[in-house]
Amino acid sequence: MSNLREYNDAADRQQVIALWRTVFGYETAHNDPALAIAKKLRAHDHLFFVADDQGRLAGTAMAGYDGHRGWLYAIAVHPDCRRTGLGSRLVRHAEQALASLGCMKINLQLLASNEATAAFYKSLGYTVEPRISMGKVFHENVSPHGVA
Ligand SMILES: CC(C)(COP(=O)(O)OP(=O)(O)OC[C@H]1O[C@@H](n2cnc3c(N)ncnc32)[C@H](O)[C@@H]1OP(=O)(O)O)[C@@H](O)C(=O)NCCC(=O)NCCS
Repeated sequence: MSNLREYNDAADRQQVIALWRTVFGYETAHNDPALAIAKKLRAHDHLFFVADDQGRLAGTAMAGYDGHRGWLYAIAVHPDCRRTGLGSRLVRHAEQALASLGCMKINLQLLASNEATAAFYKSLGYTVEPRISMGKVFHENVSPHGVA
């Protein structure tokens, strides 16, 4: 069974980037994996987790907490490791980390076409909420200060 632990940049960076490119594609600059990792590490919030299967990266979970809401991002399980409960373990791990910070509500966003992942989250107690989800993209993907 995979060990769930905090992301380790030296050990995990290349495998995480490869997994995210496989699972998410990433065509937009604001989702560039290397910069997303660098920016998350600059947040120093210890809310980035991996599933480590004896050195092989089997999945990721990223969470965020701003003092009001918690968010889940980048829940990804390697295609070879799906439907064994790993995605559920990753979400619960992130949920527990958020709850320990005092978080009382978790939100997440999915593409409306991603019905399989919606089914996954529903199995974990998440519901579709009647909200208008809005976003704004800054077109320059600026490195955090001090990161090349
Ligand atoms: C969604 C994802 C994380 C699920 O990981 P997983 O390890 O296969 O999930 P689990 O084994 O814990 O599944 C738990 C339950 O979720 C539901 N579920 C999972 N995948 C499903 C699918 N493709 N279709 C329908 N239901 C699904 C099932 O009820 C499943 O229970 P079961 O296997 O007993 O039927 C994985 O398929 C994935 O990485 N998908 C692409 C990434 C993605 O879109 N991430 C979300 C963006 S934040």
